[in-house]
Order: sequence, then C-alpha cells, then structure tokens
Amino acid sequence: MNSIKSTEIFSNGKISQIITGDKISNLSRYLPPETVVITDVNVNHLYGGYWSNWPNIAIGVGEKIKTLDTVNEIYRRLLEYEVDRSGFIVGVGGGIVCDIAGFVASTYLRGIRFGFVPTTLLAQVDAAIGGKNGINYNGFKNQIGTINQPDFVLCDPVVLQTLPKELLADGISEVIKHALIAEEKLLDFIENNYNAILSLDLQTIGELIHHSVKIKTEIVNQDEKENGERRKLNFGHTLGHAIEKVTGINHGKAVSIGMLIAAEISTKKGLICSDDLARIQSLLKLMNLPINCPSNRLEIIDAVAKDKKRQAGQIYFILLAKLGKAIIQEIGFADLAEYIKESKFLGS
Ligand SMILES: NC(=O)c1ccc[n+]([C@@H]2O[C@H](COP(=O)([O-])OP(=O)(O)OC[C@H]3O[C@@H](n4cnc5c(N)ncnc54)[C@H](O)[C@@H]3O)[C@@H](O)[C@H]2O)c1
Ligand SMILES: [Zn+2]
Repeated sequence: MNSIKSTEIFSNGKISQIITGDKISNLSRYLPPETVVITDVNVNHLYGGYWSNWPNIAIGVGEKIKTLDTVNEIYRRLLEYEVDRSGFIVGVGGGIVCDIAGFVASTYLRGIRFGFVPTTLLAQVDAAIGGKNGINYNGFKNQIGTINQPDFVLCDPVVLQTLPKELLADGISEVIKHALIAEEKLLDFIENNYNAILSLDLQTIGELIHHSVKIKTEIVNQDEKENGERRKLNFGHTLGHAIEKVTGINHGKAVSIGMLIAAEISTKKGLICSDDLARIQSLLKLMNLPINCPSNRLEIIDAVAKDKKRQAGQIYFILLAKLGKAIIQEIGFADLAEYIKESKFLGS
C-alpha cells in the first residue's frame, strides 16, 4: 500500500500541499462544507459519485472551451449558489479544468480558497502543480491568467485507469522532461520500471508521480514567477510548441521531438555526448513517444519566429549540461533556425 506523502510549495506566506498516496475516495475529507466542485462532463460522469454531496459545475471538454465565456458562466453559477468569501472551489479533472477552476477561484471575489484533484497524468505532474492558472484569449494560449497556489492538490493514480492511453503519453513526456532537467535517478527509475508504468501498476506510477511532483515543486519554490530557474521547465517546449502548431500532433508527442532536438543541440555544443542523446532517444521510444516527425522545417522555423516575437525577441533556450541537469542559454534566432534545418529528428 502507498503511504500518504506531501510535498509543499511555499507562496505568499501560505503552504500549498501536494498529496500523493491518498485516494480520491477520501476526497470528502479534504472539502469544507462550503465547497463547489468544478469538473468536466466526462470526469463528472465517471467520478461524480465522490462529490454528490456538493454542488457541481460540469464544463465541456477541449481546448476551445478554455475561454472567458466558460469563466463567465461559472461566475454566474457561483452567484446563483450564493458563494461568498468563505466559499471553496475544488477543480476535479485534467489540465483544462485545473486551469479554469484555478483562474475562477483566483478572481471571484478577488480570490477564494481552492484545491485540485487532477485526473490526467499531465495534470498530476504538471498542470495542477505550480500555481499557473491560464485561459486562452483571441486564439492565444494561456494569454490571461494568474499565479496563485491551491490549498491542496490530491493526486490519485487510480483515476488514470480510465484515461485513454493516448493521453497517458502526454504526462509521461513531462515526467521524462523533469528527469532530464533535474534528476538522472528518475531516468533510471523509468528505464527500470517501464513495463509497470505503461501497465499502470499503482505502486510504481504513484512513485513516479511523487518523484516528478517533487522536482517541479523544488523549481517553483526557487522561482515561482518564472524569472530564472522555472524557465528550465520549458525544456523541449520552444520547439515542441512550434511542432504542435505546425503538425497538429498532440502536446506530449511534440515535446518529445522538441526535447530530442534540444538534446541534439546540446551534443553539438559539446555539453552532452552522443551516447546520452541515444539514451534519451531509446527511452522516449520505449515509452511510446515519437522520435521523428515528418514536418516542414521552414514552417517550424516560422512558428518559432512568431513565438519569439510574443516574447519580446528573446529566446531563453534550455539545454542539457548533462543528463539530470539543465542550463539556460540565450540562442540567436539564426543559429536556432540552422539547428532546426540540420536536425535528424525532423522529416522533409
Ligand atoms: N497551468 C499549467 O501550469 C499547465 C501546465 C501544463 C498544461 N496545462 C494545460 O493543461 C491542458 C491540457 O490538460 P490535459 O492534457 O489534462 O487535458 P484535458 O484537461 O483536456 O483532459 C483530456 C481529456 O481527458 C478527459 N479525462 C480527464 N481525466 C480523465 C480520467 N481520469 N479518465 C477518463 N477521461 C479523463 C477529459 O474529460 C478530457 O476529455 C492544456 O489546456 C494546457 O494548456 C497547464
Ligand atoms: Zn508541456
């Protein structure tokens, strides 16, 4: 049996607890009587029995609903339920629910208390951790948002059993990212336990989530507002976002290729050796993530350029100094374009 473990984020004089090893069936123990549950229709259908004693708001699914319209509708419902400053919101669902619930809780009545029960692996290791609560605006992802930590995050791997396998890969990609940027031991753990992870052995996946959460919380505790250290969490994402946009493949797969190209650049700069790169490639393949992506390199370069414009011209690129250690370097756009043109991980 898993023991209950807690990892803390310290922010604004408050402690935010990320709990692993407890069950979603114990959710009621975490919820004050004034709770309103925000979830999505799928998750409500599967797990709604655990919050039947509380009012709930079930939103739709898909990135398109992560907008101010959805937020507006939730504000309206909260007023209808007469939620006041003593109210509590718990978001139960994937990254979209966590982002929306966190944003609503951070703005309704200038902020009320909230918690998360992430139900996808991506949300358990990434979206629910670190306090970023963003919504999309005018076609731009996470353009509006807050940084505000929940009181608690409850991660129970048992809910991953109903998750489509395709979505599991998204979370695994972020776990591998955490290992590559901060802890080689986690790489060993994944390599040694890949079968148990892919078949969702609860003990193993519980350990994996705990390791991964610890890495992200340590980084967030050093740099909550992303002025330095937290940028390392963008490893594989500058190119990953561009690949996602151009090819339409999902986030985790795009980040897999993005991480490979960033590791490839790290070898070209003499930071890691080609054996290290080969090890990353084998691990991604083992975990059913893509290691090559047929795509138009010029379109990818163009997408990176557009992204760069939004970030006021700077590209803080994340490279690997060794396996388990990331470094931040500014890379000139022309150099980056050259690396993309030469990469063996992109197709035509
Ligand atoms: N705030 C952050 O720091 C942060 C970090 C990473 C990603 N994100 C955001 O997270 C979002 C993606 O999150 P996601 O991948 O969890 O997607 P998602 O929230 O869209 O969930 C994916 C699908 O899985 C379903 N689902 C959720 N849990 C399930 C379960 N246990 N069983 C069966 N089905 C289930 C959902 O209904 C949905 O259809 C993006 O909007 C992204 O921007 C935010
Ligand atoms: Zn990501």
